[in-house]
Parts: sequence; structure tokens; C-alpha cells
Amino acid sequence: MTSNSSTQAVPEIYRMPRHVAMIMDGNGRWATRRFLPRVAGHVKGVEAVRGMVEACVTRGIEFLTLFAFSSENWRRPPDEVSLLMRLFMTALEREVAKMHANDIRLKVVGDLSAFDSKLQEMIAQAQRKTENNTRLTLTICANYGGRWDILQATQKMLAANPGLTAPTEDDLAPHLALAFAPEPDLFIRTGGEQRVSNFMLWQLAYAEMYFTDTYWPDFDGDALDKAIASYQQRERRFGRTSEQLVEQKKAS
Ligand code: IPE
Ligand code: IPE
Ligand code: MG
Repeated sequence: MTSNSSTQAVPEIYRMPRHVAMIMDGNGRWATRRFLPRVAGHVKGVEAVRGMVEACVTRGIEFLTLFAFSSENWRRPPDEVSLLMRLFMTALEREVAKMHANDIRLKVVGDLSAFDSKLQEMIAQAQRKTENNTRLTLTICANYGGRWDILQATQKMLAANPGLTAPTEDDLAPHLALAFAPEPDLFIRTGGEQRVSNFMLWQLAYAEMYFTDTYWPDFDGDALDKAIASYQQRERRFGRTSEQLVEQKKAS
């Protein structure tokens, strides 16, 4: 998948990002601010997901990837973890038919073996049902971690090529959990923290980073437009100089 790698070749850049990856953070604080239980923030957070999918579709974004549950989120109180699982199930139950009707392809990536078998089956069914849809690919990262991904890809690569001693990017890339998508152009983290929290470590190599204090439940189409406007101001050099970019523009 060389053409898909920002370190192997300079990718084609479009005014509208093709792939936006988001860390949906701040649900708990959104609720606490309102003297509500954290749960209320997660419920609102699911609504914000619905709005964001729609906003991306209307803007012509092709890939939206959302961090829903990290491999480290198991460290939370058991009640909160099980509530998040239930919310995920309910959202799948309610939304998949609508997604399918709107030509949205759903992918769920992460170590799904940790989920109960009913949830795993629902995920498999939803992915099968929507696999040929082309308008937007919505990827939900669940029990996902960037390190998990690199390690699971390494294991699959070695299983596929026993004796491989000097792997290249091309050997590894097809086994990464997001091999079906181009690398994210734009990374957004809501909720005020400025860190990556083990999200898409490999794929974010050349993503433009955007951080906002807005809590996830309040992150809407207008907020997305601000992030896109910021993205459109950036000069994506991929290691080259500004002068080279000017020359390239003149030549084209
Ligand atoms: C993000 O919101 C949702 C998940 C991690 C599942 P948080 O629950 O992390 O909200 P804060 O950061 O505590 O406000
Ligand atoms: C990152 O948010 C994970 C998700 C949004 C799913 P966290 O709230 O778990 O991140 P940290 O712990 O503050 O870094
Ligand atoms: Mg958080």
C-alpha cells in the first residue's frame, strides 16, 4: 500500500480533508459542569456522533474515524465501562439501518475479542450489511490502541511471511487495522487536552493536528467548519520546503 503512505510518497492534497480522525473527549466534564452524572455526557456524546456523521456527509468528507473506547479505558470504574458498552450496543441497534439507507459504510476496529459475543456478532452483521456503501466510511475505534494496532499488524505480517527478517512498510501496512483508509488529513481532539492518548500512532504521521476546548457533546457542524478552516490555512510540506511547494504550484 505504498501510495497510501505519507512517508513513502507525498500524497495528493485536496481542499476538503478526505479523512478526519477525532478523539471524542470531554463527555464526563460536559455532564459534571451541569451537575449531571457522567453517563448523561456519554448519552449526549452519542447524539453528537450522529450529528457529526451527517455534517461529514454534507461536506463531502469520505472517511470519519472516531475514538470511542481506548484500550486504557478499561481502567475506568466498572459501572462506567458497562454503561459505555450498553450505549454502543443500543447505538448499533438503532443506527445501522439508517446508516445503510444513507450509503454509509461502518467499520469497527480494535481488539473486539474483549467484547461479549452478542456485541461481536452485532458488529460483524453491521459491517457485512454496509460493506458496499460508498458515501462515507465511518470507523469506530473500540478497545483500540495505536500500539495494539502496530503489534497486531506485526504479528499478522510475520504469520503471513514466516522468516521475514527485514520488514518494510509495504509488508506491514496491509495488516494495520485501518488499511482500508488513507491516512487522516486532519486530527481533531475535543475537550481541551493536547495529547494523542494512544490513538492511530502509525497513521497520524503527517496529519494536521487541531485541538479545541469544546467538549464533545457540543462539537457540531459549525465547530467542524472552524477546524476545517484551520486545516485549509496549513501548508502541508511532508518534509519539503515552502519554496518547493511554490515551484510545484507554478509547474502544475
Ligand atoms: C470521552 O469523554 C468518552 C470516552 C473516553 C469514552 P470522557 O469520558 O473521557 O470525558 P472527560 O474527559 O472525563 O470529560
Ligand atoms: C481518549 O480519551 C479515548 C477516547 C476518547 C475514547 P480519554 O479521556 O480516555 O483520554 P485521557 O485518559 O484523558 O488521555
Ligand atoms: Mg477524557
